[in-house]
Amino acid sequence: MTADLFPVPDEWATQARIDAAGYDRLYAAAKDGPDAFWLEQAKRLDWIEAPQKAGDWSFDEADFHIEWFADGTLNAAANCLDRHLIERGDQVAIIWEPDVPTEEPRRFTYRELHAEVCRFANVLKANGATKGDRVTIYMPMIPEAAFAVLACARIGAVHSVVFGGFSADALAGRVQDCDSRIVVTADEGRRGGKRVALKACVDEAAAQAPSLERVIVVRATGGDVAMGERDVWYHEAAAQVSTDCPPEPMNAEDPLFILYTSGSTGKPKGVLHSTGGYLLWASLTHEWCFDYRPGDVWWCAADIGWVTGHTYILYGPLANGATTLMYEGLPNWPDASRIWQVVDRHRVTGLFTAPTALRALMKEGDAPVTATDRSSLRILGSVGEPINPEAWRWYHEVVGEGRCPIIDTWWQTETGGALIAPLPGATALKPGSATRPLPGIFPQLMDEKGEVLEGATSGNLCITGSWPGQMRTVWGDHDRFFQTYFTTYPGKYFTGDGCRRDEDDYYWITGRVDDVINVSGHRMGTAEVESALVLHAKVAEAAVVGMPHEVKGQGIYAYVTLNGGVAASEELAAELKHWVRREIGPIATPDAIQFAPALPKTRSGKIMRRILRKIAEGDTGALGDTSTLADPAVVDDLVANRVG
Ligand code: PRX
Repeated sequence: MTADLFPVPDEWATQARIDAAGYDRLYAAAKDGPDAFWLEQAKRLDWIEAPQKAGDWSFDEADFHIEWFADGTLNAAANCLDRHLIERGDQVAIIWEPDVPTEEPRRFTYRELHAEVCRFANVLKANGATKGDRVTIYMPMIPEAAFAVLACARIGAVHSVVFGGFSADALAGRVQDCDSRIVVTADEGRRGGKRVALKACVDEAAAQAPSLERVIVVRATGGDVAMGERDVWYHEAAAQVSTDCPPEPMNAEDPLFILYTSGSTGKPKGVLHSTGGYLLWASLTHEWCFDYRPGDVWWCAADIGWVTGHTYILYGPLANGATTLMYEGLPNWPDASRIWQVVDRHRVTGLFTAPTALRALMKEGDAPVTATDRSSLRILGSVGEPINPEAWRWYHEVVGEGRCPIIDTWWQTETGGALIAPLPGATALKPGSATRPLPGIFPQLMDEKGEVLEGATSGNLCITGSWPGQMRTVWGDHDRFFQTYFTTYPGKYFTGDGCRRDEDDYYWITGRVDDVINVSGHRMGTAEVESALVLHAKVAEAAVVGMPHEVKGQGIYAYVTLNGGVAASEELAAELKHWVRREIGPIATPDAIQFAPALPKTRSGKIMRRILRKIAEGDTGALGDTSTLADPAVVDDLVANRVG
């Protein structure tokens, strides 16, 4: 496949922070002298005790460990706030754009944000939070969500942000898993004109989460909520505390946060990130990939419930002293121009969003885009899923009017920040490719037999060494961390992604090779959806696979076998979709449910997902070898009754 090449425009090559030679220099330096390289990079952070040690790690079973800057001491919130006060205390740190366009945005200077975070930190302390405690944050996209996150970092509490779209059950599981005693929430959230009853969800979750002792409730909408014994209004507590809260000195390896993410098996795992290495990676990659410079208005249009929000709404930009925009609503509400109107309203210079949003907007045609100015835009980013070349071109040509480099960043919750991405002043672009690894990242493609593949080829993507932003463990289950990522290809970090490398050494991520699907840029374990389905009294068995979806990238296709005597019906399919929505959250709602008298299984009882995937994709002519099935006739029924 030949792809168009978009060379680095001259003005970018000459003006960007890093040009092509600069990238080569950084890449070589990180490879040839990693200790010196990383200690030098680490100087961009403000250390209480500067590290003398860089990376110390081994991916081998006998000596498995990952540490970065382990003799350094710092505080992440102080890096995001205090150190900016002298030079840019009056610069806007956070612009908050409300859901409803007629409402006024709010702005917080670094000085104001510092005060708000200290106040929030004192409220947490007054409610018993101390260093090392886990605090769950279940919030809408309001400024107080940022205050709460940074307040945890300030006092050394480990935050676990749970996306506000997750159900009470999902929240309860996450609160319990890390033994959170405190949940921070709001009365309600707002998105696209609708309200989400967050506090009510917390109440429901509390019944299943005995560790929960205190709920701090931010009044966001003023909606009616029931306040019980364990509940505290944030505004009342905040009135009792000062805005003086010294940052807690933290070891670089002390945990900064846990973020739950889906895997191919079992319950979501608590991905744990460190304070020093993570913050360095967030700050560095925000500057490298997006050519951050003072005066930029940066908008990462993610939710802080995902790693993208952690790294590129909060920690990266704030560590760099940037102005970061936080948006409460949806890109296409009240209409398909909204995202561009927000760009114009705040003169946004860099926008970072997901292909799924672009595809949805693209469907509305060019007019909602061209009706807006967008002349402030300098750089456009993409994240979360493969971007199809058509969406890439639309982003480049229609949105950016050919002027803005498209920075397609490949990474994962586990990686803390981008690993494979172009640098705008250094890397020629190819639509659909995340291009080249960042300095310090050494990818390898592997075949099924464990052999390293060289040259232009396709294989499973591994990273051969550690980088500062790498996750450190799965909360409470270090063995699962090792087993999940380091045993498929011993000595290497296995990403779970398939990838093609072309003749120019460009990387093209092809998607997950495990039982994880990517729905609208959100990661979902098929096993989670299956577990939710089989909890329903009428369901005997379920198998879930991904299917191609025009807007979402992948949709969720569920095969369901009903209990004896239960009749399949459209109503039941609708009921099951609703059921999953309630069990996990709207993002897990199946797009298609096919009732199947039986699932294709091998003689040893293993479901042959390969066949189910093909049928869901509509690729029924090429089902491959079905001879190992216990009952090959099952497949004929599945093909005949395919949904969609
Ligand atoms: O399959 C890859 C896909 O998203 C997965 C990681 O999901 P998550 O941990 O939720 O993090 C999302 C934000 C980084 C990866 O394993 N993915 C992410 N970015 C890209 C991508 N696939 C292709 N191109 C990307 N730019």
